Amino acid sequence: MQFPNWPIHTEASFGYLRQVLESTQWGGFHPIVGEFEERFARYQHCGHGIAMSNGTVTLETALQAADIGPGDQVIVPAISFVSTATAVSRVGATPVFVDTEPYSFNMDPARVEEAISPATKAIIIVHFGGPLADLDRLLPIAREHGLTVIEDAAHAHGCEWNGRRAGSFGDCGSFSFQNGKALTAGEGGMVVANREDYAARIRSIANQGRRPGHSFFAHFELGSNFRITALQAAVLMAQLDLLDEQIERRTRNAAILLEELHGLAGIRWQEIPPAVNRNCWYLVLGRVDASALGLSRDQFAAALGEAGIPCTPFYPHTLYQNPLYRELPNRVMPCPVAEASIGDAFWLPHRVLLGDEQLTRELAAGILRACERGRQSSGTPAMAKQS
Ligand SMILES: Cc1ncc(COP(=O)(O)O)c(C=O)c1O
Repeated sequence: MQFPNWPIHTEASFGYLRQVLESTQWGGFHPIVGEFEERFARYQHCGHGIAMSNGTVTLETALQAADIGPGDQVIVPAISFVSTATAVSRVGATPVFVDTEPYSFNMDPARVEEAISPATKAIIIVHFGGPLADLDRLLPIAREHGLTVIEDAAHAHGCEWNGRRAGSFGDCGSFSFQNGKALTAGEGGMVVANREDYAARIRSIANQGRRPGHSFFAHFELGSNFRITALQAAVLMAQLDLLDEQIERRTRNAAILLEELHGLAGIRWQEIPPAVNRNCWYLVLGRVDASALGLSRDQFAAALGEAGIPCTPFYPHTLYQNPLYRELPNRVMPCPVAEASIGDAFWLPHRVLLGDEQLTRELAAGILRACERGRQSSGTPAMAKQS
């Protein structure tokens, strides 16, 4: 099957890039960087945006700016990309891994409460695949215990919870603009925040400890150079022009896909709470019930792959099962759901939803056919497995 390629660019991308290339400043001090920061922060319902080189150093800087370090514990979900946990370790603090909910793939608020200790200083809430984690339950817990809240919104560009956008709920939100993300410059990231003092500290750390109004060579604290380039900002300006239409298209196509696959027993798709009134559909996530589908998750993913449908059989391990965390200090709460998810979950990338309605119907038919073929080659009787 022929799905749209990703990333995509337009004539406007060249216009923004030309503006930078014809200037004498290609680095982070070109005005287009500030323009993009302001535009994207506003897009996410935030007053401040600090663009950086990726969505990993954004997390590390947000933790450093909250004075989190050795002796502190930070609660993170057991399922995420590794940066969510390594950011905590890299500032010298201890990640505390908590379980996810079975079908939202997001942190389970009940498990968060159990993980809090006197050393807990912060929580990193990941909005996995796009849909926001249960903020109505997580934020009061954080407030009650005085925790810094960092939203890892690397998957959640433009996503909303009751009309408010990802990144605007916590003390800050961290975004990634890495190549596969719903908004991309190949690499890049941004912290968005509504707290001015926190945003100023983050900006200072990301810019060699400088402070506004002082000499370029005056450095007030231990920072680094995490600035984004003007070339990345130019690409992102053009990408942001496209994002709303892409989200609308993916939303329409996701509805068609899930409707067409309604009768496919053995797949349970990601649960999206009613409070999530806008999802960017970064990932189409699901879990396989092998006995109902007649295929294991790996057989399902392989059958889709053979049919030309990109499907990733989830992460091979929870975050704490990474070899890295055999060495580094961490605390693991019981995570039976996360451990089951790594054995039966999968995702399709957002580009499969970027075609037209016909391609989406072909995708649904392709998935059904791939399951049928997979069952035939594994010797499972088809009739017994269809609802
Ligand atoms: C949840 C999550 N957090 C953080 C990151 C890190 O972003 P980057 O690749 O821009 O460093 C990613 C990247 O995939 C991610 O998925």
